[in-house]
Amino acid sequence: MIPFLDLKAINAEYRNELVAAATRVIDSGWYVQGQEVSAFEQEFADYCGTQHCVGVANGLDALTLTLRAWKEQGRLKEGDEVIVPANTYIASILAITENRLTPILVEPDESSYNLCARGTEAAITPRTRAILPVHLYGQLADMPALMDIAQRHKLLVLEDAAQAHGASLDGRKAGNWGNAAGFSFYPGKNLGALGDAGAITTNDDELATILRALGNYGSHKKYENRYQGVNSRLDEIQAAMLRVKLRHLENEIAARREVAHAYINGIDNDALILPLTPGASPLTNTRHVWHLFIIRCQQREALQQYLSEQGVQTLIHYPIPPHQQQAYTQWAPKSFRLTEHFHNQVLSLPMGPHLNSWQRKKVVDVCNSL
Ligand SMILES: Cc1ncc(COP(=O)(O)O)c(C=O)c1O
Repeated sequence: MIPFLDLKAINAEYRNELVAAATRVIDSGWYVQGQEVSAFEQEFADYCGTQHCVGVANGLDALTLTLRAWKEQGRLKEGDEVIVPANTYIASILAITENRLTPILVEPDESSYNLCARGTEAAITPRTRAILPVHLYGQLADMPALMDIAQRHKLLVLEDAAQAHGASLDGRKAGNWGNAAGFSFYPGKNLGALGDAGAITTNDDELATILRALGNYGSHKKYENRYQGVNSRLDEIQAAMLRVKLRHLENEIAARREVAHAYINGIDNDALILPLTPGASPLTNTRHVWHLFIIRCQQREALQQYLSEQGVQTLIHYPIPPHQQQAYTQWAPKSFRLTEHFHNQVLSLPMGPHLNSWQRKKVVDVCNSL
């Protein structure tokens, strides 16, 4: 079976470096809020081109704490509306509702699957205070258009960059467009730790200071608490793992792009809708980092079954849209036509730097043999 993702194989490539980094931490006797975290924060901020990176426990906390920090600053208050794509992963929405803000779901753009700029502008009301675009599957949302809307309507922008480490548009990376961005380093992400981890990037000095306090019991200074904070910290072991993985991220992105090109150039089957290639995208100069390679098919379940029988493992990102989740029964009567349509059709092919040329070819051949 060609695995959808082979984390064991990916991390085995760096085994010696990872073991050396873990050993360094074990031998240091310092496991939380130490040099590895500071060094990783600096290195990841440099990579994204931002002034700050604040490590936290996971990607959901990165988003939740940023919105919370804006509440502490008085820039958001309970009930304010936050525009978010209807077809996102649930975490983007949980971060909003956890803060007692109101998510306003907006349909995606049909070609990129990312938040539609026109739909965003149409959804703005006097209560709208922020936009939370998600760089879904590894491609930046239309940030020039969204930032222009945000500026004209004086809205905050929080990028959900959990799937887009290193993606860029006009040479500007994910994490360096909005007022702040949340990253996940969940093991399966393009930059994955060996456990849960996350971070916020921002160019806002005050926001970075508040975020550091919020993730550390609300404390700026030991035993002094300015906020009712939480414990959400990146730990030294995961930071050390991430420093190793960050050094290889560009090579892994290049490998992912090769896999995507092999699929795009090789798959030729009218029953399958392929992602729009960045070159064909209306956005210029985009660097897609292919966290996921999504195809669409009307007979999705039959296709998945066939691929599995032929030895190709696939996954569905995501089978149930947020507005149809039990967690949000209040949205059950709502209908988001495009979002529902995509959720019924999407299928994720194997994607990652672990796929060798034989495996790529096999995926293409099986897709063409339908
Ligand atoms: C788009 C998106 N946002 C947020 C998250 C949450 O990240 P984490 O799993 O690290 O909490 C994820 C990943 O799971 C994601 O894919």
